[in-house]
Amino acid sequence: MKVNITETVLRDANQSLIATRMPFSDFETILEKIDDAGYHSVECWGGATFDSCLRYLSEDPWERLRKIKAKMPKTKLQMLLRGQNLLGYKHYPDDMVRKFIEHSIQNGIDIIRIFDALNDFRNIEVALDQTKKSGAHAQGAICYTISPIHNLDNYVRLAKQLEDMGVDSICIKDMSGILGPQDAYDMIRAMKDTVNKPIILHTHCTTGLGPITYYKAVEAGCDCIDTAISSFSGGTSQPATESMHFALKQAGYETGLDETVLKEINDFFKPLKDKFVQSGLLEHYVLGSETDALVYQVPGGMLSNLIAQLKQQNALNRLQEVLQEVPAVRKDLGYPPLVTPMSQIVGVQAATNVLMGARYNSVSNELRSYLRGEYGKAPGELNQELVKQVLGDEQPMTARFADTLEPEFEKTKQMLGTMAKNDEDVLSYIAFPQIAEKFFREREESAAMKVNYAIKRV
Ligand code: CO
Repeated sequence: MKVNITETVLRDANQSLIATRMPFSDFETILEKIDDAGYHSVECWGGATFDSCLRYLSEDPWERLRKIKAKMPKTKLQMLLRGQNLLGYKHYPDDMVRKFIEHSIQNGIDIIRIFDALNDFRNIEVALDQTKKSGAHAQGAICYTISPIHNLDNYVRLAKQLEDMGVDSICIKDMSGILGPQDAYDMIRAMKDTVNKPIILHTHCTTGLGPITYYKAVEAGCDCIDTAISSFSGGTSQPATESMHFALKQAGYETGLDETVLKEINDFFKPLKDKFVQSGLLEHYVLGSETDALVYQVPGGMLSNLIAQLKQQNALNRLQEVLQEVPAVRKDLGYPPLVTPMSQIVGVQAATNVLMGARYNSVSNELRSYLRGEYGKAPGELNQELVKQVLGDEQPMTARFADTLEPEFEKTKQMLGTMAKNDEDVLSYIAFPQIAEKFFREREESAAMKVNYAIKRV
């Protein structure tokens, strides 16, 4: 029996442990080795990497992708995409979604994992369609959460919907690491009985459940799991590649991985980890198990955000009350999965309700947009009194929000003129206008400096 392994060290492990701050130059020399390890795929792009390249690392994310592709011709390159939000935090118009995906694939991506925070698949439809049209593998993802309205039947129905939409594979995305082994087993068995597509499980070690959940998932017939090379595994990252390989091999499964190569890869990343520990980017608390998430049903990242927010307002002593308010707010909002941006919207509102001593006296713009239907359809029923209180007589939209957006690509390309060197620059600009502009300016300056330096040397 074959179990495919996707390596996440370049994307999710990088993002979960060190806020996506690993520059290309740090891992460039190990890429050929990673290409030799026998991975089914390597997740190396998308998620927060794009933003981080432009914002913090002064790297062109497109160039990073092309360079990775050049060094890894054998292994499929994978990216994570937030549906209509692409790699940003708002909905983009359809022409932008299509162009962005087209260029991602042209520059080297083979597999695109596409999700929507609310599991509103109208928000992944265009991205899926374009992925297939551009000849890549379209993986539909279901965000896993626990709530009174989320149950096995529900998830199986979502998987069926994805199959009907024409995805090539289906991923269960447990971003908080709260999927327990037995639930994973039951869910994957039920999906395997219902759909005829490969099932991928994605989890994190945040609560310590990750490796046992993967093991049971594989016993249930899971086709592929996401792991991180051991020095960048555990805690808020994925279970370790080598350990999962060891355990699965012992049970007679085939992973296709070469242990000798895995060891060389890990030997390369070990000192890099030390470097990030020393610089303070890798903090010890992200490496342990944080079981509070199992008690409060609040993902680890959201918990640390809440703590930071309360500290800032000198109200850390109210944390317990806020944690009790979270399920109430979530219920009012129709039980959205607590993933970006919903984890922030729910967390901020719960804290505001507690600190103001009155519920929804003040609401964020994001919450207002959510109630308007701009993020998509809530999984459950919205509290209608709350909708009325916030929106007044305004009717929430039932159509897909992106249908209200004007095409942007050609217009922006004209506007940018020579500031954009190619179509990829235009896409970077539409995705993150301010930081892309700053990046373009700095790129010009550093190119000019290089020319000056060369002239002086002559
Ligand atoms: Co993840």
